[in-house]
Amino acid sequence: MAIFKRVGVVLIAILFASQQFVSAEELPIVERASFPKDFVFGAATAAYQYEGAAKEGGKGLSIWDTFTHRPGVIAGNTTGDVAVDQYHRYAEDVWLLKDLNMDAYRFSISWPRIFPKGVGEVNWEGVKYYDSLIDHLLELNLEPYITLYHWDMPQALEDSIGGWLSPDIVDAFTRYARFCFERWGPRVKHWITFNEIHSFAGAGYFSGEHAPGRCSPPKCAAGNSSTEPYIVSHHALLSHAYTVDMYRKEFKDSQNGVIGITADSSWYEPMDSNSTSDQQIAQEFLEGQLGWYLDPIFFGDYPASMRKGLGSNLPTFTAEEAALVKGSQDFVGINHYSSMYATRNETTGESIQTAYKDGVAIGGETPSPWLFVVPSGMRKLLGWVRERYNSPIIYVTENGRDEANKDESMPLADQLKDPERIQYYHDYMQNVLLAIQDEADIRGYFAWSLLDNFEWAVGTTVRFGIYYVDYKNDLARYPKDSAHWFQQILKKTTDSPK
Ligand SMILES: *[C@@H]1O[C@H](CO)[C@@H](O)[C@H](O)[C@H]1NC(C)=O
Ligand SMILES: *[C@@H]1O[C@H](CO)[C@@H](O)[C@H](O)[C@H]1NC(C)=O
Ligand SMILES: *[C@@H]1O[C@H](CO)[C@@H](O)[C@H](O)[C@H]1NC(C)=O
Ligand SMILES: *[C@@H]1O[C@H](CO)[C@@H](O)[C@H](O)[C@H]1NC(C)=O
Repeated sequence: MAIFKRVGVVLIAILFASQQFVSAEELPIVERASFPKDFVFGAATAAYQYEGAAKEGGKGLSIWDTFTHRPGVIAGNTTGDVAVDQYHRYAEDVWLLKDLNMDAYRFSISWPRIFPKGVGEVNWEGVKYYDSLIDHLLELNLEPYITLYHWDMPQALEDSIGGWLSPDIVDAFTRYARFCFERWGPRVKHWITFNEIHSFAGAGYFSGEHAPGRCSPPKCAAGNSSTEPYIVSHHALLSHAYTVDMYRKEFKDSQNGVIGITADSSWYEPMDSNSTSDQQIAQEFLEGQLGWYLDPIFFGDYPASMRKGLGSNLPTFTAEEAALVKGSQDFVGINHYSSMYATRNETTGESIQTAYKDGVAIGGETPSPWLFVVPSGMRKLLGWVRERYNSPIIYVTENGRDEANKDESMPLADQLKDPERIQYYHDYMQNVLLAIQDEADIRGYFAWSLLDNFEWAVGTTVRFGIYYVDYKNDLARYPKDSAHWFQQILKKTTDSPK
């Protein structure tokens, strides 16, 4: 860790010791008044996981529409064809958000709903859908935070140029982004270019578990797990940089908004906290996950540790590109859910991450095999971002946990009990408060997610919602106990916030 190198072991030991002995009474209370003035609370969603109406209203197909219709790739063989039908129910959903006493809604635009072929002709019916959604949000004083790309590449561009694999995608993406700024920029003040490039590069091109389902044969029909994740990430980073440049030159002054990018990372904890080797490996995992995207954006190049490990499989920026990528953010969005141990496999010598130490999990288990409940990881990760990137403006753009589907015969009132979600949100938000006390510049927090929804490769087998969706009865929405919890803690009181 950077801080480790600078101030040395002794000071760090004191720091950790003092944190451990903070008594329970001194921990900040998780409620609106404990956060800085103007701190934004919201819920996050994504087009493919929510909208449905996959073939309605003139929308073109995306790679997710195609992928989910391949037999056997989604748990339970579900698709996002209908998802939770937000395309038709957005007016109700906006009220559900308002009822939580939240301030903002993070959603993504479906690129092929606006440009069915990716470029060229505009589908005005799709444009009007987002016009109405934004109208409804603003009428209720809810601030829209728009993600331009949450994984639904137009299938037409996948077919014609290979989607993110082609450098030509940069031009197509910036045209799409330009349309969005022109149309909605007068009313939308927070833009996020990409959601989790790391996830779609990894699951889409390394493991093949997400669209477009590419990885090295024979596991996938086509792809190259050693090269493609880096190529698609590179083109996405360039698309981000050119889009931010365009926004700043042509829109920012008149529209008075801000633009950033959302990256995701687990926190990596050295398996043996006294081992310099494990500390080093944990640091390299953070650089390899978060630094992969944030180092170019803050420093103009990929981390040296990635270059060392990947050599020529990692693309390079020209001097001109590096200059454009560097500084291409007004804020950084962080999606965080879980933590892992980092160590070396004694047999193979490889750096590995694992959730278990001597058979004991790093934190509470959830139905998602990648998600362990480690609230302190939130504070540590936000601290790492603050340290490494010199205190940037941060929004936590996703955080939350899932539960499995319960026994269908259980009464509805019991289906809505989610004490483990309330505990999770409480503990993680408390660690956001601690990170703010550590002087991280955090401006907002978005819960994942407003409703139960289509969770990519695991379909509807897990539930991430604050509201329950009854998939068997016309997708009716009901508040879980966590909805009442958010209502309470986010209530605006007459006490002026700090
Ligand atoms: C999903 O589809 C695959 C392939 O067609 C089939 O083998 C499997 O039984 C299906 N699963 C369910 C839950 O329907
Ligand atoms: C992936 O690309 C690398 C670099 O071009 C090459 O060495 C390797 O053989 C390729 N692997 C596959 C599975 O095509
Ligand atoms: C780390 O080293 C210190 C000082 O030698 C020792 O007190 C502590 O128990 C060690 N911790 C672990 C996890 O081995
Ligand atoms: C270390 O690698 C060996 C050989 O691949 C494997 O069998 C073992 O499970 C690995 N250990 C851990 C802790 O991952």
